[in-house]
Amino acid sequence: MKRDFLSISDLDRGEINEIIDYGIYLKGNPFSDRTLEKKSIGLVFMKPSTRTRISFEVGIYQMGGQPIYIQGSSTQMSRGEDIEDTARVLSRYLDGLVIRTYAHREVEELAKFSNFPVINALTDLHHPCQVLSDFMTIKEIFGKLEGLKIAYIGDGNNMANSWIVGAPIVGMNISIATPEGYEPNGRVVAEGIKLAELFGTEIEITNDPIEAVKDADIIYTDVWVSMGQENEKDKTKEFYGFQVNRELLSKTGRETIVMHCLPAHKGQEISEDTFEQFADIIFTQAENRLHAQKSLMSFLFK
Ligand code: CP
Ligand code: NVA
Repeated sequence: MKRDFLSISDLDRGEINEIIDYGIYLKGNPFSDRTLEKKSIGLVFMKPSTRTRISFEVGIYQMGGQPIYIQGSSTQMSRGEDIEDTARVLSRYLDGLVIRTYAHREVEELAKFSNFPVINALTDLHHPCQVLSDFMTIKEIFGKLEGLKIAYIGDGNNMANSWIVGAPIVGMNISIATPEGYEPNGRVVAEGIKLAELFGTEIEITNDPIEAVKDADIIYTDVWVSMGQENEKDKTKEFYGFQVNRELLSKTGRETIVMHCLPAHKGQEISEDTFEQFADIIFTQAENRLHAQKSLMSFLFK
């Protein structure tokens, strides 16, 4: 049966570790895996992208496949052709689809009505490829995932949601601090709490960033305004105190690294000096998108 990757919870702990370890191998052996030979993979983007699009295109090429970039606005979907028909048509041409869009339900529907693996390249609800790659970066730095604590500070967005379900699955403890009214998705939080109970990990959702970063090995942040929210009201005042900076970093009580999925808005969710202090890690996160996604495709398309 085909496998999709719509949420990080589509993989179990063993599979995630297998994918991360193989991603680390592929980093040193970039042309060694030819799983995508004679395969055409569509890349539908309804939102802008630098890292995701380019890392998938390069990755598919390195694995012997054909990447086909499809700008969302250039398809009949933008004129109302429904997802079900689009999925059935694309199933006649393609061997797989990577899609970035708004509503998570659209990606679920595409997966339901297509006969190939579908990879979520970001929706309003989840960004699983980013978390998968971040696991790889964390394992490279710490040599493990289990037992580490991550503190996510900022907007309760798709990144926060993916971390809430991802952390317990790999045995990490997580604390999420957002301003009031910007908490992560309620259903996702409930799923995260269940997973944390199952795996015996800690999960905390708070409005206090100082409380959240206590004992954190990793502080993670993302933009305050996600794609599609550009016309909403200015959040700067409500997010006061949620900037990742030297002061917040000093509250962890231990040696801590800072991660950011990029793009960054320096001076908002992260200070310029803290960004530069951890720039090597942050750009390794971006690089590892390529290796982790190749490993994921090898897993899904074999
Ligand atoms: N982090 C990330 O997904 O970046 P892009 O929006 O550039 O793809
Ligand atoms: N939360 C951000 C992530 C970008 C990679 C967004 O959805 O725009």
